[in-house]
Amino acid sequence: MDAMQVKEKIEKLSEEINKHNYNYYVLDKPAISDYEFDQLLKQLERLEKKFPQLASPDSPTQRVGGEVTKTFKTVTHKYPMLSLGNTYSIDELRDFDNRIRKTLKGEFSYACELKYDGVAIGLTYQNGRLVQAVTRGDGVQGDDVTANVRTIKSIPLVINHRDIPPLFELRGEIIMPHKSFIYLNQEKKNNNEAGFANPRNAASGSLKLQDSATVAKRRLDCFIFGILGDDLPFQSHFENIEMARKWGFKVSDDIKKCNSIEEVMEFIEQIQEKRQSLPYDIDGVVIKVNDYKQQESLGYTSKFPRWAISYKYQAEQGITRLQKVNYQVGRTGAVTPVAILEPVSIAGTTVKRASLYNADRMYELNLHFGDTVVVEKGGEIIPKIVDVNTKLRPPKAEKIEFASHCPQCNTALKRNEGEAAHYCPNTQSCPPQIRGKIEHFISRRAMNIEGLGEGKIEVLINNKLIENIADVYKLKYDDLLGLEKVVTNEATGKEKKISFREKTVENILTAIETSKKVPFERVLYALGIRYLGETGAKKIAQHLHSIDNISQSSFDELIAIPEIGDRIAQSIRDFFSSEENITIVRELKKAGLNFELKKQFAEDAGSQPLEGKKIVVSGVFKSFSRNEIKDFIEQKGGKNVSSISSKTDYLLAGENMGPEKRKKAGELNVPVISEDDFKKMIAE
Ligand code: IVH
Repeated sequence: MDAMQVKEKIEKLSEEINKHNYNYYVLDKPAISDYEFDQLLKQLERLEKKFPQLASPDSPTQRVGGEVTKTFKTVTHKYPMLSLGNTYSIDELRDFDNRIRKTLKGEFSYACELKYDGVAIGLTYQNGRLVQAVTRGDGVQGDDVTANVRTIKSIPLVINHRDIPPLFELRGEIIMPHKSFIYLNQEKKNNNEAGFANPRNAASGSLKLQDSATVAKRRLDCFIFGILGDDLPFQSHFENIEMARKWGFKVSDDIKKCNSIEEVMEFIEQIQEKRQSLPYDIDGVVIKVNDYKQQESLGYTSKFPRWAISYKYQAEQGITRLQKVNYQVGRTGAVTPVAILEPVSIAGTTVKRASLYNADRMYELNLHFGDTVVVEKGGEIIPKIVDVNTKLRPPKAEKIEFASHCPQCNTALKRNEGEAAHYCPNTQSCPPQIRGKIEHFISRRAMNIEGLGEGKIEVLINNKLIENIADVYKLKYDDLLGLEKVVTNEATGKEKKISFREKTVENILTAIETSKKVPFERVLYALGIRYLGETGAKKIAQHLHSIDNISQSSFDELIAIPEIGDRIAQSIRDFFSSEENITIVRELKKAGLNFELKKQFAEDAGSQPLEGKKIVVSGVFKSFSRNEIKDFIEQKGGKNVSSISSKTDYLLAGENMGPEKRKKAGELNVPVISEDDFKKMIAE
């Protein structure tokens, strides 16, 4: 292929991939399988790698992110980002309509839309390319989060349409769909990290991440609800938004032009019914006067437009009685109180339990047995108790005290200073902790022992065949053959018989044998050290190379590792101060698990491409803070020097470096290298 043909091929592939992204992320109607899609993407990646000069910065391959933003640039909005007046009352909505009719006199119509519960964003397109994405901030100035927003696949990077204005800004809401939210919080839980309280916080937190590659994995979405600019196709809102839909943007089908306030009310009712089945959170409906000229004549108050209002739904609530509080014990021993309620129907679902989060939250509510409580099922997925009607408290009702002992093993609970959660300290023999630890140990991202899932662990624990993770490697064919048990699925109530037949046992033993090849960083993660997630385990493995080094490292040595904070460091020290843990690790070692980084990786991590080089660092950098870059230089064998002399090997120049430095480097023949050059050097 000559360059022309390659260019054409790249363009064709990009167009095809963009179309499939559109089908999948905007229309929700994939036309090909994930596998076929991946093949197309890989083909494009290969071509771009071979011919980097032909790769476009807007290529669909760029959606995986990778750009790191240390501090987001503050940008002044070309058009201020206003907020909306809101109401919960139909009467006030009628007042709004009356005011508008009085001012406008003649005919007018409203556009009604969903009020998405996420984070506002302004997307600037110049000549059909997304050039900037800015958060609301204080409405006048916001943060430039372009690198992160470029990873959201329902936002086109290029608009494939003729007749678009040369410059315009779209306004929309970045949201995290329920599915992404549940996935993310599960992942956080697996890593022993605190989850987000609701999808809005998760969307907002994700947008502010420094590493766009992480944002890409968060599966955010974006709905468009406004367009601003000089040469817009229409002089009215609804028609322009429908145009944006044609340009490839995601616009909800729940948008309606209404000619009277009665029609608006109908729309509000329809959406109220539909609300719980939407795959993302909304908190109301936005009503906007449709015509731009009429909008202008209505004008603005000091805070809001007079031509729009949001009608918010009351959170869905139910009243019921609190029966008792149960306690769930997680694999790390964290104890969560759960309110057990008399079943109540809220927004079409039966609610029997509500999370009480922790002791503080529980005491704030001052719960008593038999209390009448208000349960809310807001946007959040887990119902919560928001209020107690003390007037209805049964006489002599007893106050509910937080458990003093573990409900499972009766050990006295503990609470670390400054932490919200109580813990059961009986890490070695508290049944849910044992089960949780073993389940974590065998899970896919840890040791990946597939055959042991689905209730089998419980059978083995009940038969006293395993008490800790090391026992997994002591299981014998004869111990397992013939075991059986009926297990009941808690959620569905369905019973299932688990029996260990020959084939099952063989599969289990093969999976256990194969797991011995799992690399060290995953073994380290599998140990289930509190707070040590996958990323932390990787970092530590790369820096310390072996379990022996880790167990002998001091707190200070541990926190010197990038991304390892006090909490993880202390937890590692605690883990290795327990005789039981040391014995378990010793047994696992004997069983043949990897407790050292494979040699080639260890050498990589410790390679010293800058050995002996004296480097002057100046200016600001895109991917590193000044201290980080200096640390890197030292880690890779180099030396930081503060002023340029004939002995300096390189001047590492960031943005805004003073001209004198460059001049001096030139005079002394010191090579000037950029941030990208530096990255290449350390990668070598
Ligand atoms: S219009 C001048 N439409 O709500 C009009 N906003 O309270 C400005 N929002 O910052 C906004 N869905 O983040 C508009 N369909 C919708 C919306 C919407 C959600 C958010 C937006 C805005 C906030 C205003």
